[in-house]
Amino acid sequence: MAMRGIDRGVTSTKRSFLKSSVSWGWRNIPVTRGMHVTAVARDNTSSNEWLIRQSRDPYVKMAKTKHYRARSAFKLIEIDDKYRFLKPGSVVVDCGASPGAWTQVAVQRVNADSRDKTNKVGRVISIDLLPIHPIEGATMLEKCDLTSSETQRKVEALLGGAGVDALISDMSPNATGMQQLDHELIVRLCYHALAFAHRVLAPRGVLLCKSFDGGDSQRLLRDLRKLFDVVKTVKPRASRSDSVESFCFAGGFKGRAKTGVS
Ligand SMILES: C[S@@+](CC[C@H](N)C(=O)[O-])C[C@H]1O[C@@H](n2cnc3c(N)ncnc32)[C@H](O)[C@@H]1O
Repeated sequence: MAMRGIDRGVTSTKRSFLKSSVSWGWRNIPVTRGMHVTAVARDNTSSNEWLIRQSRDPYVKMAKTKHYRARSAFKLIEIDDKYRFLKPGSVVVDCGASPGAWTQVAVQRVNADSRDKTNKVGRVISIDLLPIHPIEGATMLEKCDLTSSETQRKVEALLGGAGVDALISDMSPNATGMQQLDHELIVRLCYHALAFAHRVLAPRGVLLCKSFDGGDSQRLLRDLRKLFDVVKTVKPRASRSDSVESFCFAGGFKGRAKTGVS
């Protein structure tokens, strides 16, 4: 069965490594985090390979140095460096936010923690099924399912009518290890993110969502093009080359008048 990237399966050895490896930067957090954990039996050899890869990964090292909660921070940094959509003063909704690395980046870039007194102050609302340890400047909706109307109502209440400048989704389904099924599950999450973005995005807003390559990728891109002026697939360097993940960047939201997502 194909295992794709770090999100695919973590044995007990890996879990303890993860637990010990998150003592930097965000202490006292109940973790088995940094990736989506699935109980998959793996032999010692692959566990060791995983540990070695983690210890050699430059992004893991950089995340420790810069106090990001996960290496995924660098995926968002790279995508935003390219498209420059996280600006001081922007309103961001971060879907699938735990443990919080993307939220950390978003808070810094939109100045949601008011660190830069000379610039506009943005907002970040972060949602996850799992707990999320607080981050100054962000509003956490933990143990919340983005696909539920209850969660979506909570987000809209927090927004109080303000338009969202960027809805970013790093949501991953619980990995089954079956490539086709995992693809279908993540595409479904992308469509939920897209439907919600359609309701809350400000005109010209951005949707960024993670997907896994597969048969429905083209349909998703086609539907995004109906609603956004610019649609690109991005594979940041921080995304492991042996992982099927990539990101759909959709910029220039055409507005709610446009419909027709199949
Ligand atoms: C790869 S992790 C996100 C990492 C995060 N972006 C970061 O940088 O720290 C994927 C997350 O998606 C969350 N998730 C999956 N389905 C979700 C849903 N329906 N609603 C909210 N969160 C969801 C999972 O709980 C998991 O924490």
